[in-house]
Amino acid sequence: MTTAPLKAADIYAYLPADTPWDIKCFDLLDSTSTYLQHITEEENAKGFTAVIADEQTAGRGRLGRPWHSPAGSGLWISLMFRPEFDSSRAPSITLMVAVAVAQALEDMGVKCGIKWPNDIFSPARRKLCGIRCEMHCDMESVDYVIVGIGINVYQEKFPAEISAIATSMHQVSGETAPRAEIAAAVLDAFEENYQLLCAEGFAPIRAKWLEYNCCVGRRLTVTDERQAPQTGLCCGIDEQGYLLLETAAGVTRITGGDIIL
Ligand code: BTN
Repeated sequence: MTTAPLKAADIYAYLPADTPWDIKCFDLLDSTSTYLQHITEEENAKGFTAVIADEQTAGRGRLGRPWHSPAGSGLWISLMFRPEFDSSRAPSITLMVAVAVAQALEDMGVKCGIKWPNDIFSPARRKLCGIRCEMHCDMESVDYVIVGIGINVYQEKFPAEISAIATSMHQVSGETAPRAEIAAAVLDAFEENYQLLCAEGFAPIRAKWLEYNCCVGRRLTVTDERQAPQTGLCCGIDEQGYLLLETAAGVTRITGGDIIL
């Protein structure tokens, strides 16, 4: 199942009149994140700009992986904002975005969980959505952050290389809301959780992340190209958002990489 490319007006119809978002929609881009970085650097785009493409020819995933982004079937969206805090808070932003997307998908009737740091998984532990955050800093402060979000919406089939691990909102819930409504829910939830992070710090976001998470209390393996894989019991996340893994050597703080449940 696919639908016609999104138009900004369709999304604004679901948002309050005073929404801060400047939404730009395209039929085709190489990557919404690459384009958003371009207009941020070259045209000084304002904070709270969102770029959506119906199809991406070079969608970028985490850890240098490609992101499969066919036409008409997913929500491929990047958001840019200019935070007023320093780069030490990077993990809290990453986890805040995961909370916002999980909240938006649950508002759309799709049950989901978060796999550290920010993959959104179905109850059957297949990936529904991936998130990639890029922080652009100078020596003193963060200039801007680009968050790329890829949500599988209508797909009934995936390419062979991801068919065993991917799923879509349609596959999880049967009924699927229009992409314009899903986009508006994501933008709204992002704004809400970003304001919460700015006003009250990471503690309330951490509490929400823990409610959605599907890692704590499970044995898992952490893979990171900088070191050998580590297997242990996930015993939580710390006050900065790093994963805590209990192994024979004690509790280790995991700052990067990927996890296998
Ligand atoms: C992951 O590897 O899990 C993160 C995937 C992020 C994909 C999204 S799709 C919209 C945005 N544009 C990109 O090129 N990547 C992100």
